[in-house]
Amino acid sequence: MYRTHTCGELRLSHVNEEITVSGWVQKSRDLGGMTFIDLRDRYGIVQLAFNMDSDSPLCESARKLGREFVVQAKGIVVERSSKNKNIPTGDIEIVVHELNILNAAKTPPFTIEDETDGGDELRMQYRYLDLRRNPVQQKLFLRNKVALETRKYLDAQNFMDVETPVLIKSTPEGARDFVVPSRMNQGQFYALPQSPQTFKQLLMVSGIDRYYQIVKCFRDEDLRADRQPEFTQIDCEMSFVDQEDILRTFEGLIKHVFKAVLNIDFEGEFPRMTYVEAMEKYGSDKPDIRFGMEFNDLTILSQGRGFVVFDNAPSVLAINAENAAEFTRKQLDELTDWVKRPQIGASGLVYLRYNLDGTLKSSVDKFYDTNELQKWATQTNMKPGDLLLILCGDLDKTRKQLNELRLHLGNLLGLRKSNEFKPLWVLDFPLLEWDENSNRWHAMHHPFTSPKTEDFDLLATNPGKVRANAYDLAMNGVELGGGSIRIHNKELQAKMFELLGFSPEQAQAQFGFLMNAFEYGAPPHGGLAFGLDRLVATMGGSESIRDYIAFPKNNSGRDTMIDAPSTIDDSQMTELGIKLN
Ligand code: AMO
Repeated sequence: MYRTHTCGELRLSHVNEEITVSGWVQKSRDLGGMTFIDLRDRYGIVQLAFNMDSDSPLCESARKLGREFVVQAKGIVVERSSKNKNIPTGDIEIVVHELNILNAAKTPPFTIEDETDGGDELRMQYRYLDLRRNPVQQKLFLRNKVALETRKYLDAQNFMDVETPVLIKSTPEGARDFVVPSRMNQGQFYALPQSPQTFKQLLMVSGIDRYYQIVKCFRDEDLRADRQPEFTQIDCEMSFVDQEDILRTFEGLIKHVFKAVLNIDFEGEFPRMTYVEAMEKYGSDKPDIRFGMEFNDLTILSQGRGFVVFDNAPSVLAINAENAAEFTRKQLDELTDWVKRPQIGASGLVYLRYNLDGTLKSSVDKFYDTNELQKWATQTNMKPGDLLLILCGDLDKTRKQLNELRLHLGNLLGLRKSNEFKPLWVLDFPLLEWDENSNRWHAMHHPFTSPKTEDFDLLATNPGKVRANAYDLAMNGVELGGGSIRIHNKELQAKMFELLGFSPEQAQAQFGFLMNAFEYGAPPHGGLAFGLDRLVATMGGSESIRDYIAFPKNNSGRDTMIDAPSTIDDSQMTELGIKLN
């Protein structure tokens, strides 16, 4: 038997017991006559004590121990004279009488403790060592619990877990595909699924009725903190449901998971907002509603007073940063530089400060008298101590920029608390968005999303105004998931493809399998997918999903641990019929 107990479970109640533990040497302290070892396993850390005043084989072995050696120790649990209040086993130690070195270890490239000296790159390269650290393991543990509770909830609701293929057909919509060459069909390629979207719809045609899968998806997109090239979805689909059924079912899932994993109850129903309202108030389709600072339109109030920057701008938008009037000149200059960075792209930032003594100070008070500035303050509900920040330009661009500024200020002012969770359903997304590059409409969600019945007529006259039966769940500024009610009628699906610029032949070649399936009795259906990585990271209070994935890719899409992607042998290339230029 390698162990009778884990390193984390020993307490005063075990005193005088003879026990055996196994684990990794985290630290060794030599205090003359005594050597103390911190022994670590997944469950915690326990102190081993060695009486070193002899040349016994035991002392000899203890002297040899280096960091990360794997050992087995047998001994008696005793109460410590100097207790360590920082760890659960801190009241006891094990006086060792037998030590077996199970495996020696090279000195690790960084310290494997809660606080480490290893930089990001190094820890990624030795991810298996990073994963020995307790805070990192806790994140995987959280992920495991979320996945488990998800399965429990969905299983209890009659959802059936069905696996779908990973080698599928490349389709032009959505993000870029990862492709896999076929040896048996030279010159042809599989694609890795961006999501199991079409398969889950086919399963509805098959009568599966309630499907789910915790499934890997692959997208060749530029990476960000909340984007990985391979990520995991909690993917779901239901038949004979309307939007309300879906929102209720998956609000229930999120509530169950938060309660079971974090013991957090959400009061009442999740708030809802239309896409149009979210864009007007927050300039984002995934607003962080942990704090206010909603947008105000100052276009009319600010134009025609000789300030050409505002006069020439299609839109002038402002946010009121409450209690931020004490921002210094330097801080305001820094904010201005921040919005002017290419990532944000604003041409400048105008402020209006409502001083505590009631006076108003603005960077543009050359152009606006106090009376006019007071009107801005009134319109934006400013009170003494508040700071109004104003951007101007093209409406869509200004909204995006002001959204970034709002989130930045939320961080600066400590308004985005990591232990506060604010879900929000965003509804009625537009069906289509115009793509400047390809000069055609693109499906905003995907081409199988159904338009709202009341907007059918607009399909022919004003496609950009057509709303979809599509919804997202946002939380804390993160898009946790999204979905839609699908088109289940072949004619409407064909019309959608036409709008998206597909000829009937192209549509048949790309999506014929789905359109044909719809001729054999497709039930009304809809669904949604949550990003598991994002859900877990949000629950863990982090914006980065990387730490919540056991073996993530870096920002260039590389796994530096296994060194992938990598070149392949010429013989493999020949076999696949591939030549590089
Ligand atoms: P969508 O494309 O919105 O919908 O994806 C669903 C959810 O998956 C997560 N997600 C990602 N997470 C990490 N890295 C990425 N690169 C990444 N891309 C997406 C997000 C997102 O909300 N088939 C549809 C769903 C449906 O209609 O049922 C779909 O894939 O959390």
